[in-house]
Amino acid sequence: MHNIFSVGQILTELGFKILNVITWEKTNPPPNFSCRFFTYSTEQIIWARKNEKVPHYYNYELMKKLNDDKQMKDVWKLPAIAPWEKACGKHPTQKPLSVLTRLILASTKPNAWILDPFTGGSTTGIAANLANRRFLGIDQEEDFLNISIKRKLEIENPVTADLFRKRIAGFIDKKQFSSIIEHEAPTTDIKVALGFCRANELKSLTTSKTFYFHAIESNNAVQDFPSGILDAARLLIYSGGRSKPINLTGHYAEIQSIKLKHKSTIKGKENSETEFYYEVTLEDCFKESDDLKFAINTKKLFDNPDDKNSILLQQFLPALTTWERVLKSIDETNANA
Ligand SMILES: C[S@@+](CC[C@H](N)C(=O)[O-])C[C@H]1O[C@@H](n2cnc3c(N)ncnc32)[C@H](O)[C@@H]1O
Repeated sequence: MHNIFSVGQILTELGFKILNVITWEKTNPPPNFSCRFFTYSTEQIIWARKNEKVPHYYNYELMKKLNDDKQMKDVWKLPAIAPWEKACGKHPTQKPLSVLTRLILASTKPNAWILDPFTGGSTTGIAANLANRRFLGIDQEEDFLNISIKRKLEIENPVTADLFRKRIAGFIDKKQFSSIIEHEAPTTDIKVALGFCRANELKSLTTSKTFYFHAIESNNAVQDFPSGILDAARLLIYSGGRSKPINLTGHYAEIQSIKLKHKSTIKGKENSETEFYYEVTLEDCFKESDDLKFAINTKKLFDNPDDKNSILLQQFLPALTTWERVLKSIDETNANA
């Protein structure tokens, strides 16, 4: 209550667009013993997106389902934290799983990455994992991280995880949460990086667990990729270009991490020495699939030919697309063959 106004102000100053201010109305608030104020029974949640232009995701139909087929309002009547949620230790301001579960189901897709930089007992993480999303949490207090670890270990037992899904408030019945995640379509919206490799170096890929992206530089300073490439979860390789067609080579790998490194000696796109590069660590060595060998149709892989990613690709730089678009391009190629 005391800082929500400053948080809203700061978000606006940073260019975020506030989408909703949700009020969580506690159905069982603790009484106000002083009897000098109204009973504190609400908390506010600011839902914002990074800027005006970045689209957000809202699962309208699912929220309607949770609300007896009526549009979900921005006032959520949910109980305060239940004792079973504190079995792994107490965090002084731990939130209920019901609130975090609803936020996550409303605004993310299965397998999404969720970050809570003030994670405490990691209610966000437990809700995320119970809903089949991935999670990263940060906290400055080791004791709270230990609670988080215990909670995570607890739900690694699938029986416990299922029991929790039944206990979490805010669903029509005990089976609804499990049924929702069972039926959520497996995402084809995986972000895919397209990385350039010269034809004569392709052979070395299958024994390598790293790959390098040239960073874009201007005035001796590295620029973040305008393409959002750092969010990529999968890497596909392309080759060719200049007078030849640009082809996907069939090499693919899952990305573990992408880190900015300095003082590269690897050659830049025009064989110049680049100062900066991104080291892509892969979960495993590249694999090869004949299904992923086809000429790139930029219209299918990107929104439009002026898309920054399409331009990056013409310059042999890493570009970002989605798995869904890759699959569409394959269908198109097969249809033409
Ligand atoms: C409101 S609590 C989060 C509670 C959490 N949502 C839960 O359900 O358990 C905020 C957390 O932020 C942590 N914190 C505060 N300042 C921090 C900082 N600068 N860096 C990392 N953690 C910080 C605190 O230790 C505290 O655990």
